This record gives sequence, structure tokens and C-alpha cells, in this order.
Amino acid sequence: MSTQKVIASRPDKKIYVEGDKVIKLFDEHYSKSDILNEALNQSRVEETGINAPHIIEVKKIDGKWAIVMNYIPGKTLAQLMQENPDKEDEYLEKFVELQMHVHTFRSPLLNKLRDKMDRKIDQTELDSATKFELHTRLSGMMPRTKLCHGDFNPSNVIVTPDGEYYIVDWAHATQGNAGADVARTYLLFVLAGRQDFAEKYVNLFCEKSGMQRKYINAWLPIVAASQSVKGKAEERETLIKWASVAEYI
Ligand SMILES: Nc1ncnc2c1ncn2[C@@H]1O[C@H](COP(=O)(O)OP(=O)(O)OP(=O)(O)O)[C@@H](O)[C@H]1O
Ligand SMILES: [Mg+2]
Repeated sequence: MSTQKVIASRPDKKIYVEGDKVIKLFDEHYSKSDILNEALNQSRVEETGINAPHIIEVKKIDGKWAIVMNYIPGKTLAQLMQENPDKEDEYLEKFVELQMHVHTFRSPLLNKLRDKMDRKIDQTELDSATKFELHTRLSGMMPRTKLCHGDFNPSNVIVTPDGEYYIVDWAHATQGNAGADVARTYLLFVLAGRQDFAEKYVNLFCEKSGMQRKYINAWLPIVAASQSVKGKAEERETLIKWASVAEYI
């Protein structure tokens, strides 16, 4: 039997390496459709040709669903940023370029960001007037079909020993507006208590891509609402507050 090395352990899932494969093992409470949806998303993304792990199989291990994919050797950008704080700016630049690169891909069968956001807004604990406002704001956004990662953060980027970049964790991938994807990343940094880093990130993204900050800000209440549905209890209050603010401009 080959040995298992756990690389990430969450309360409800475990990610481990076995030989040249990575196994993402989910707890029993995950629905079959959640797992198949994640695997399907990743397969669609893999077919775009972007550097992402390939799905090998989806199966049950001791009664639990598991997604098996190829192992990408290396370190995550999060690890590298922590190990080399003096190089943080350099890594951040690469991170932004990589996210812009993601947005150049198209995957016409992927779930639509707009549908997902509409559904999430409905699932929030916001009052109906705020929900209505968010739905209206969402419907006013330009229709876009860019590949969006949905959880783009430095722990989902792996740098291989020969300097190639791979992006993992496509569970939340959709096609839609890059502004929403950037707003989501910004929010992740803020929620992690890294406000200054969040500002640096978003300013760099705007500078490199030509995207306007006010466009990203316009997405923030929608993205915060969406995140509040599954967000941790301690984050929910902040997210609900963000979702309730009509204008960030
Ligand atoms: N194919 C892979 N090769 C190497 N390392 C991987 C691979 N897939 C995941 N990892 C590592 O495991 C970590 C956790 O995996 P992943 O991001 O898929 O799970 P997660 O963050 O718990 O997912 P979610 O965001 O859906 O909760 C990643 O940050 C990465 O370091
Ligand atoms: Mg992850």
C-alpha cells in the first residue's frame, strides 16, 4: 500500500497525496451533486488548456466521496509569500497577472456567475428590500463570459520547482464578470484582516488591467452577500453589513 501524506485538513474534508495523485476526500454531509459539480467544473476548466490539475477519477472511499487528480509538485504562493516576505510585491504582481490570465479563457458550458449570484442573494438572511436592490444591481451589470475562479487566493496557486504556475480548487468556478472575481479576492484579503494588502492587490489589478476601481466596488455588495451564505459565523456580520451598503463609490 502506498503512503498517504496529508497536505490540507479542513473540518469537513481532507486533501492528501498518494504517489503521483492528490485525493480530495469529502465528509458524508456533502451531497453527491456538490462533488460531481466540483469535478465537472474542474473538468471543464481543464479542457480550456489552462494550467490546472487533471481529474483522474471520482469515487467513494470508505463511504465518502473523493475527487482524484494529478499531484502538482511545488509550493503555494501563500507559502512562498510567507517564507520570503521581502519578495511579497514580486509574488503579488505574478498573482495579479495570473488572475488576468484566467480571465482570458472561455468555457461556454460552465455555470453562469450571474445565475449563481442571483441564487445566493435569495439564500441570504438579508431583508427583501436589500435583496431586491442587489438583484437589480446584478441585472444592471454587463453580461460577460470570462472564466472566473471564484476563490482566487495565493493558497490556490502552486509554483512548481521549474517555475511554472498552476491553479487549483476550481469548485467555485463560473463564467462571468472579472470585476466580481476581483471583488471576491479583495474581500478574502479583508476578511483575513489584511486590509492594506487588499488595497495593494486591488490597486495593482486596476493598474495592470485598466479596470476601474469603481467597477470592482460595484460588485462588492453582491459578492459579500454571496459569501455570507456559507461564510463563517464570525465573518457573517461583516459580510451582511457590506452587502447592505448601497454604494461603495
Ligand atoms: N492537485 C494538487 N496538487 C498539489 N497540491 C494540491 C492539489 N490540489 C490541492 N492541493 C493543495 O491542497 C490545498 C487545499 O486544496 P483545495 O484548495 O482544493 O481545497 P480547499 O481550499 O479546502 O477547497 P475549498 O476552497 O473548496 O474549500 C491547496 O491549497 C493546495 O496547497
Ligand atoms: Mg483552496
